[in-house]
Amino acid sequence: MQTIAIIGGTGLTEFEELEVIQRHNQISTDLGAPSSDIIEGMLNGTKLLFLARHGHPHAVAPHKINYRANLLALQQLGAEKIIAVNAVGGIHSNAIAGHISVPHQIIDYTQGRENTYFDGVFKDLDHIDFSHPYDEELRQQLIQILAKQNLEHNYSDFGIYGATQGPRLESIAEINRLEKDGCDLVGMTGMPEAALARELNIPYASLCLVVNPAAGKSSDLITMDDIRLVVSSGMSEIKTILRAFCEHTD
Ligand code: HPA
Repeated sequence: MQTIAIIGGTGLTEFEELEVIQRHNQISTDLGAPSSDIIEGMLNGTKLLFLARHGHPHAVAPHKINYRANLLALQQLGAEKIIAVNAVGGIHSNAIAGHISVPHQIIDYTQGRENTYFDGVFKDLDHIDFSHPYDEELRQQLIQILAKQNLEHNYSDFGIYGATQGPRLESIAEINRLEKDGCDLVGMTGMPEAALARELNIPYASLCLVVNPAAGKSSDLITMDDIRLVVSSGMSEIKTILRAFCEHTD
């Protein structure tokens, strides 16, 4: 039986339906502690590891997350695939609030994050191939599940994710630049997570929930209250997708 890890983002800090096998608290790795306890449990016949990326309760800012420890801890506990859940802003005109996308590419605009294991200290210098940042087989599995759901909005089976530094949201000019670069979505946590998973050789894909139009994509300013409203309904759809995914995994 495969062990699937879920990294929950904003709005997904716990997965109540898990039949808990073990709560791994105070896990440590050679690179520090992960953001939260890791819950090992069963869901629809699949073994899951659940980690809250921003901690539980949500308290760790995107640029302060110890991404290296998070992924190392999941690997230590036997994660064979990782599904990341990310709340994002929508840049593409299809990417309206509530829309779900399974991105196929990523551009990294973050700075100063510990973004590799191959730093010559933890591991010898090395250069991984990152042409296709997300695992195509896992992406297709997620897309097949999405196609069968009765979702409130259309989903996208592709998308370019622009990873920004945060924690502030972007200026309109920054979003215009990302759009010119080809980005469809903008979020703060996609990198270095995706690259670290590749360095550990763990297939990784992301389910992105659009929680607001990116800066300048609506005449309104972005408020956390508006975002919270979308997060609460959208994350229940994301949970439905994850439940269905677990039913179809062996
Ligand atoms: N920008 C960056 N990250 C985000 C956004 C956004 O508009 N919405 C949710 N995460």
